[in-house]
Amino acid sequence: MSIPASGALHRLLAPLIDVGTFDFWVQQISPRAAWNRPLATVTARRLEARDTVTLTLALNRHCKLPQAGQHLNVSVEVDGRRTTRCYSPTRIDARHRTIEITVKHVPNGWVSTQLCHHTQAGDVIELGEPFGEMNGADAPGPWLMLAAGSGITPLISLIRQARERQASNPITLVYCAKKRADLCFLPELRQMVARQPGFALHVVLSQEPDLIDGEMAGRLDGVILNAVIPDLAGYHVFACGPAGFVETARTAVGERARSFEAEAFTPPTLALNADEAVHPVHITLAQSGRTVTVSSQEALLPALEAHGLQIPHGCRMGVCHTCSCNKVSGTTRDLQNGQAQGEPQAAVRLCVSSASTDLILDL
Ligand SMILES: Cc1cc2nc3c(=O)[nH]c(=O)nc-3n(C[C@H](O)[C@H](O)[C@H](O)COP(=O)(O)OP(=O)(O)OC[C@H]3O[C@@H](n4cnc5c(N)ncnc54)[C@H](O)[C@@H]3O)c2cc1C
Ligand code: FES
Repeated sequence: MSIPASGALHRLLAPLIDVGTFDFWVQQISPRAAWNRPLATVTARRLEARDTVTLTLALNRHCKLPQAGQHLNVSVEVDGRRTTRCYSPTRIDARHRTIEITVKHVPNGWVSTQLCHHTQAGDVIELGEPFGEMNGADAPGPWLMLAAGSGITPLISLIRQARERQASNPITLVYCAKKRADLCFLPELRQMVARQPGFALHVVLSQEPDLIDGEMAGRLDGVILNAVIPDLAGYHVFACGPAGFVETARTAVGERARSFEAEAFTPPTLALNADEAVHPVHITLAQSGRTVTVSSQEALLPALEAHGLQIPHGCRMGVCHTCSCNKVSGTTRDLQNGQAQGEPQAAVRLCVSSASTDLILDL
């Protein structure tokens, strides 16, 4: 539902509208209608693999369509609290403005439990802006895709896009999981192997007792990589999975490939500074005038949350920029690379930054 019809009318009415009240009443008629919020209606759900569900989402006009290989924040209500996590669309249908996300249930996880076990067709969820740089558009030549677990999601989207565009570059997918039952999209991938010249699939299983169809046992390492592709020269490599998997892939590939692009779905170990003594720092929150005290060794996002602040966030690992806020003054440290940032009026990602000195934040 398009509300209101024209951009000019939208701008004219904006100062007169109470957005919350407008959204409440208009959603009585159409659940994904909203003044300006990017909302999506769940139109279908299906089991994709063990503990893994694919949801089809119909986007309202405020949602920006992602590119293959990108991610977006998904917000749902869990126990009355709006909670946000990142997911990577597995299918993007620009013509019908629908996307699919494929969610693996994490035991005791807030959002994956909600999406896998409770979300039904007709439910409405909020989406963030797409983000992420991993797109294969500028990568002619052979592709090697390395996926572990849920890391298959942005890669299947790139593979599907390449197939739709009838791209001729050979694609080799090495797909790692614990057991065969955990593998997503397996019938489709096997069909591609059978029908698409140049597409190869290698399955690596770490906990499957009985291997079939050329499956390999173990975890990705240099030996498996060399067995699959002995000479990586000319290859564009895409790797996606938990942080440890991405690091193993990076080491195994080394400098041998033409390019290496990777996304980790779990945070890397943050670099606490052994040389810097732990000390309390005062954070002044400019918008409320409140001051809280945190440890200089703690990431600012959890430290401020522990004081009861509700700060918008998504990935909690420095990739989506949802937690960015303006630092008015003071010095922070980037926990990913250890670098100090003392510039005033600079954007700071709270999930991967700690405070080295007292700070004033525009919060
Ligand atoms: C860029 C990106 C793209 C992603 N794409 C996908 C995707 O396409 N598909 C997919 O399935 N996932 C994807 N993920 C992972 C996803 O964002 C979530 O991290 C995942 O679904 C788990 O979220 P959750 O809310 O269920 O778990 P959380 O509630 O965040 O919990 C995660 C773990 O921490 C534990 N935990 C939580 N709170 C506590 C506590 N207080 N004490 C002790 N333990 C605790 C839980 O038991 C659980 O094991 C992606 C992540 C990123 C960063
Ligand atoms: S929450 Fe994504 S960058 Fe901080």
